[in-house]
Amino acid sequence: MSILETLRSVVELRRFELDPVERRLAKSANIDDLRRIAKRRLPAGVFDYIDGGADDERTLAGNTAAFAEIGFRPRVMRDTSEIDPSTTVLGREIPLPLILAPTGFARIADPQGELAVARAAARAQVPYTLSTMGTRSIEEVAAASDGIVRSTAGNAVVDNRRWFQVYVWRDKALLRELLERARRARYEAIVITVDTAMLGRRERDVRRGFTLPPKIGLDTFIDGALHPSWTWAFVNAEPILFANVVGKDTDDGTSGVSLADHMHRQFDPSLSWDDIGWFREAWGGPVVLKGIQTVADARLAADIGVDAIALSNHGGRQLEDAPAPIELVAPVADAVGGRLEIYCDGGVRRGSDIVKAVALGATACMVGRAHFYALAAAGERGVDWMLEFMDAGVRQTMALTGARTLADVTPELIRRPNEPF
Ligand SMILES: Cc1cc2nc3c(=O)[nH]c(=O)nc-3n(C[C@H](O)[C@H](O)[C@H](O)COP(=O)(O)O)c2cc1C
Repeated sequence: MSILETLRSVVELRRFELDPVERRLAKSANIDDLRRIAKRRLPAGVFDYIDGGADDERTLAGNTAAFAEIGFRPRVMRDTSEIDPSTTVLGREIPLPLILAPTGFARIADPQGELAVARAAARAQVPYTLSTMGTRSIEEVAAASDGIVRSTAGNAVVDNRRWFQVYVWRDKALLRELLERARRARYEAIVITVDTAMLGRRERDVRRGFTLPPKIGLDTFIDGALHPSWTWAFVNAEPILFANVVGKDTDDGTSGVSLADHMHRQFDPSLSWDDIGWFREAWGGPVVLKGIQTVADARLAADIGVDAIALSNHGGRQLEDAPAPIELVAPVADAVGGRLEIYCDGGVRRGSDIVKAVALGATACMVGRAHFYALAAAGERGVDWMLEFMDAGVRQTMALTGARTLADVTPELIRRPNEPF
């Protein structure tokens, strides 16, 4: 065989992908890869706003590290030729135990912002939570995600699942108006974020003087010039505003304010359990409390009768040294499982993380940064990619641990360090 023939038999050139988004995705194997691409594409201040956490970022690191501490006790030869990871949340079926967490300001990652994430969620038929601090309005998001039917659902009319996240604001009239708008736009549930009595100290933002919306000053000019595609999209799009409160007697983002200033003006540090009663009365539909961090508060939430809690430390962005949500799942499930749904929010980067949370007693996981990195790395297709990656990861972990349905995903699947095999 000539050298040329030998070479021909071993060399296989991959077709060069012309579409830059597909090229980026083709080179990605996991969420960390999307994060790296996002870091390359975004100005440093924008990336740090998304990626960063409070103080020394121990809680941020702890959220993901806690998943790595949890091992499996895999069972084999259990006929896993058919895997079904579907479950129900708030009484309705979803194909995967995953909910997209509210993340404000999605348009700093991609001009379509929340619309892109909501459309991808609708295609995957998982709930999407729009943040009060969103840069697309309640109505825009509803219009974008309505009518999207999952291909496998044929022509059935699918009522896409949209949740709306609220903060306990001082201005109750404005809150009431937002809830009314969410009701009219057929949002299914509200998610009340309760871990923000004041804003955590995000030191990367402090250091960079980061404002929302980002303003291009002299110091950010060079950064912007180094990221021309982001800067071009940013200056060509309509101004980024807090779309839900435009024109109200509040900061709508017309002037750049630091997030801390914005929060201090709007947020009510006197929030208490009584406020939840106000919301339940004003909303009248399902209520999720996001930011529960102890068994004691989980019990209080069950006692007042909310529908679900999200165990969350806000992705390590609020209190430093708060517990990792995955560590709370089993004790909270022991205390209140069966009385309300339990979502694990924080540090989820793989399908196997979701399987661990469900095994320990969670109904589903909420996913924040994973979808934000995906959006920044590859826009709407990036979010589709992330959802497919999570789905494939859940299925693979179930197959390799011998679980056919989520009913088989029980605490027996989990092995902690020093426990017997
Ligand atoms: C960039 C960014 C913006 C966020 N904005 C909000 C918000 O507006 N409201 C809210 O309740 N939580 C917000 N969060 C917290 C997320 O909802 C979620 O709790 C957190 O991201 C989960 O951790 P993970 O990023 O490790 O998945 C935000 C998180 C990030 C990273």
